[in-house]
Amino acid sequence: MLLFILLLVGLVAIAGRPQNPILPGFHPDPSCIFVSDWNDTFFCASSSFNAFPGIPIHTSQDLQNWRLIGNALSRPEQLPNLTNAVGQTSGIWAPSLRYHESESGDGEFFILTTLVYDKMPITDTSRWDNLIFRTKNPYTHDAWSDPVHFIFDGYDTSPFWHQDGTVYVQGAHPWEVREDPHIDQIKLNLDTGAATVQVPIWNGTGGLAPEGPHIHFKDGWFYLIIAEGTGLNHMETGARSKSITGPFTPAPHNPLLTNANTTAFFQTVGHADLFQDKHGNWWGVALSTRSGPDYMAIPLMKLQGRETVLTNVTWAEGQFPEFQNVSGVIDGPILPLRPQIRGDGPFITAPDNFDFAPGSSLPLHFAHWRIPDPAAYTISPLGRENTLQLLPSVLNLTGLDENSAPTGQTFVGRRQVHSEFVFGVSMEYTPRQPGEEAGVSVFLTQNHHIDLGIVCLANETSSCADSTVLRIRTTSSTAASARPDTIIPLPIQPGATRLQIRADNLTHYVFSYSQTEDGEGMRVAGYGLSADVSWGFTGTILGVYATGNGLNASTPAYISRWEYEGVRQITSE
Ligand SMILES: *[C@@H]1O[C@H](CO)[C@@H](O)[C@H](O)[C@H]1NC(C)=O
Ligand SMILES: *[C@@H]1O[C@H](CO)[C@@H](O)[C@H](O)[C@H]1NC(C)=O
Ligand SMILES: *[C@@H]1O[C@H](CO)[C@@H](O)[C@H](O)[C@H]1NC(C)=O
Ligand SMILES: *[C@@H]1O[C@H](CO)[C@@H](O)[C@H](O)[C@H]1NC(C)=O
Ligand SMILES: *[C@@H]1O[C@H](CO)[C@@H](O)[C@H](O)[C@H]1NC(C)=O
Ligand SMILES: *[C@@H]1O[C@H](CO)[C@@H](O)[C@H](O)[C@H]1NC(C)=O
Ligand SMILES: *[C@@H]1O[C@H](CO)[C@@H](O)[C@H](O)[C@H]1NC(C)=O
Ligand SMILES: *[C@@H]1O[C@H](CO)[C@@H](O)[C@H](O)[C@H]1NC(C)=O
Ligand SMILES: *[C@@H]1O[C@H](CO)[C@@H](O)[C@H](O)[C@H]1NC(C)=O
Ligand SMILES: *[C@@H]1O[C@H](CO)[C@@H](O)[C@H](O)[C@H]1NC(C)=O
Repeated sequence: MLLFILLLVGLVAIAGRPQNPILPGFHPDPSCIFVSDWNDTFFCASSSFNAFPGIPIHTSQDLQNWRLIGNALSRPEQLPNLTNAVGQTSGIWAPSLRYHESESGDGEFFILTTLVYDKMPITDTSRWDNLIFRTKNPYTHDAWSDPVHFIFDGYDTSPFWHQDGTVYVQGAHPWEVREDPHIDQIKLNLDTGAATVQVPIWNGTGGLAPEGPHIHFKDGWFYLIIAEGTGLNHMETGARSKSITGPFTPAPHNPLLTNANTTAFFQTVGHADLFQDKHGNWWGVALSTRSGPDYMAIPLMKLQGRETVLTNVTWAEGQFPEFQNVSGVIDGPILPLRPQIRGDGPFITAPDNFDFAPGSSLPLHFAHWRIPDPAAYTISPLGRENTLQLLPSVLNLTGLDENSAPTGQTFVGRRQVHSEFVFGVSMEYTPRQPGEEAGVSVFLTQNHHIDLGIVCLANETSSCADSTVLRIRTTSSTAASARPDTIIPLPIQPGATRLQIRADNLTHYVFSYSQTEDGEGMRVAGYGLSADVSWGFTGTILGVYATGNGLNASTPAYISRWEYEGVRQITSE
């Protein structure tokens, strides 16, 4: 393994090239910018759906080393309604990140995004809550403003500052309520959220769900670049006009970017954004899925969800941009390595090694599902230093109906960012009443997760003392048939149980445990199928949970020695 890692490091150093995906794991719908005012730094935002904190912001100075600097949605008060975003792929969709300098020379970062409700007793037109976040310094703690809400019947809203001072916003008009989905435009006041009536500007080229529009002005043309064909037919198409309001004429050779109808390992490429580096080179980012064309087949290999990839772009004068096809290798100009960059969060593929020391807080890359109950998480409580105390939620990870969880769920995790990895925690936990459970989970959504938990299965004739077991339980709508639970008797012992999840290939998760203090003598408890957590628009989160499985529960679980380590990134079949 060491040799392999050395070889990999060597390859990167020799080639000096970034490799795809640049933001592996649950980082879809990227929007990236280059900001010379901020020390020649690239900033990227990605979709977070129901995860909280949401809208992670990653930076780089060389397009190779990417670091989390914060989350635009970091305070529950910014968006209490995230809790109401019922539906597993609802929540925050497709932030558009932009930097704008006002006439007085003040630079400011803006994010336009949409809070999407899937199932609510509300009308179709209020399904989309469009938002403006802004900050003058994305590195400060809780940097981003409360959002200004604006009316747009649709999603994927993206701003463009016209020379005349007007802000035009392009967005996707919903495909499911009208038969003619298209890209709409409004004029928007970013301070007040006052918006004009939506005007259709382009229908796209006929692909499913024209969306993710961005406008770039170059050589006297307004280029409108959008995504279409979401899923295996995903692609990026373009049109241009001499006027911001159109009419827009399609590129002569659409799509501009796609891996559809190829055997590439990187599929579903689309939802792109474009930016230039300090030398004027153009780059594109897009989302992609490392699945191969068997994406929809069993075994599904959409293991980590939709990720951010980078590609180099040639944009000749007066022409449409030409994108390099997406693969694991990124061609293009090489930027000097700058691995020492500013920020409080971890580099994207860095290992975790956390002891929850007194006075520390949860790392920036940890995420909950919707807005957490702060009382459920205590770092280093008195007498239990160097642990994370979890208080159980009534609801488990499946929640009420596989969709909602109005009382919240005790869960915190980190994204799976490697094809193969080892994730483990030590957990001190002795359930005291029937149904109480705590453990580790491979969590995609409330209706797709695999849990390895310590649970009390006591009934009228038994007690927790003789009915506490280890259980692997799969919740999945994609499984061909329901999988039976795996139950392993677990003698109650003092001290912590080590719980581990690893993946050694693209098809299976391996769940292991050890009841020894140091995790020696790990034993395999069972397997989970990656197909069971491959669905929808989000990506896998590995984490810990505690619940009463529908009953009020109070027994705390104490988590320590939280470790995650990447083993291998698979980039071709
Ligand atoms: C939350 O959503 C409800 C229902 O759509 C709405 O009435 C309310 O104004 C929203 N609250 C905020 C703070 O946006
Ligand atoms: C888009 O499609 C609609 C409905 O088919 C049509 O009425 C409209 O003219 C089209 N718009 C453009 C700009 O082509
Ligand atoms: C892929 O091929 C199918 C069938 O020929 C075609 O309908 C579709 O438009 C193609 N997709 C792209 C993005 O070229
Ligand atoms: C990308 O791949 C397509 C299909 O394989 C091919 O037709 C096209 O020429 C490639 N484009 C570039 C820029 O390599
Ligand atoms: C990508 O980068 C290389 C090297 O800088 C360049 O020759 C090529 O034309 C670029 N564009 C595309 C679309 O591949
Ligand atoms: C700017 O970036 C360089 C290279 O990464 C770094 O050495 C320097 O400390 C940075 N300066 C600031 C003010 O962040
Ligand atoms: C109660 O639990 C015990 C121990 O787990 C088990 O053997 C027994 O079958 C259970 N009884 C009922 C009625 O479920
Ligand atoms: C993946 O690993 C699992 C568990 O070790 C094993 O059962 C399975 O056969 C492996 N699959 C492939 C395709 O190698
Ligand atoms: C979650 O809790 C409910 C009761 O609220 C229960 O019916 C269900 O079996 C539990 N699901 C899992 C995966 O444990
Ligand atoms: C849990 O306890 C609260 C407060 O005592 C009570 O309101 C609620 O009904 C209980 N829930 C369940 C599922 O027992």
